[in-house]
Amino acid sequence: MTDPALEAIDLTRRYQLEGVSVEALRGVTLRIDQGEFAAIIGPSGSGKSTLMHLLGCLDRPSSGQLRVNGVEMSGLSDTELAELRNRTIGFVFQSFHLLARTSALENVALPLVYRGMGKAERRERARAALEAVGLAHRLDHRPSQMSGGEQQRVAIARALVGEPTVLLADEPTGNLDTRNGAEVMAMLDRLNSDSGVAIVLVTHEPEIAAHARRQIHVRDGLIELDTSTPSPAPHPETNPHPKSAHPKPTTHPERAHSEGGDAESGRPEGDHPERDRPEVDHSERDHSERGASFGTGGSETGDRSREEGR
Ligand SMILES: Nc1ncnc2c1ncn2[C@@H]1O[C@H](COP(=O)(O)OP(=O)(O)OP(=O)(O)O)[C@@H](O)[C@H]1O
Ligand SMILES: [Mg+2]
Repeated sequence: MTDPALEAIDLTRRYQLEGVSVEALRGVTLRIDQGEFAAIIGPSGSGKSTLMHLLGCLDRPSSGQLRVNGVEMSGLSDTELAELRNRTIGFVFQSFHLLARTSALENVALPLVYRGMGKAERRERARAALEAVGLAHRLDHRPSQMSGGEQQRVAIARALVGEPTVLLADEPTGNLDTRNGAEVMAMLDRLNSDSGVAIVLVTHEPEIAAHARRQIHVRDGLIELDTSTPSPAPHPETNPHPKSAHPKPTTHPERAHSEGGDAESGRPEGDHPERDRPEVDHSERDHSERGASFGTGGSETGDRSREEGR
């Protein structure tokens, strides 16, 4: 496949909150090639999560275009978009967002339900995904019976069970101690090199960002720096993709659109219920894995509603 995994062109996202407009993204152009491993870093409030949600088709831009494997998103209905997301994108959140009363195996198998896959195959694939993240011995454990690192690995298995093109992870080690964080990163390194899934992760930690071959710095809703060079490389400019199976340059010149440029969004953006609750809130959009997730509010009990919604 030669299309980029993700291609964002001049994406903007403006939120309206109590009459106040916030330009969270002000024109981001970004291409993620198949098999890439990129880290997004930047100050709190700079727009990292907003960008991830757009890239992950969990949200729609105010303006701009997004293509996933060459398919333009803007013309798709929410249902079509969710279906495409289910097949092409895995999303991992800082706080795992597993169904609390459900076994690891069933958590991981859930996205496959929406594909109409039979139970035996779902279970087999989920078992294989858990094995791939080193949790073959934890199939029947519930999240509360696992460590944070194990829970995040279950979440990664769930994100990968459908064999997506790209895995998006918003601060996947943010809730983990150093050792568990290192384990999760080792896992992501391995998955990227073995299975070729492209990975884009957000992190505040330089050591975590150093796992990626490319670093994308976001500030004030714009990409201020985008490099495909690994930070510890001695001569980065001569070997931008040492491990990549796709040696062509992965970066697009980022158009740091200055403010104001954002044209009107094609769609009116209401405030997001999620914003009221931080981070956790994105959960259910995440794994509802089927449509109708835009703009839905939710909470941890979203787990239940998701189950009901199945
Ligand atoms: N649903 C929303 N409604 C209103 N404003 C929002 C919403 N989501 C994000 N914002 C605002 O958009 C800006 C970017 O937020 P975003 O969550 O993308 O930042 P971030 O870089 O992920 O920050 P952090 O590192 O703290 O997670 C912030 O000013 C934030 O307050
Ligand atoms: Mg964030």
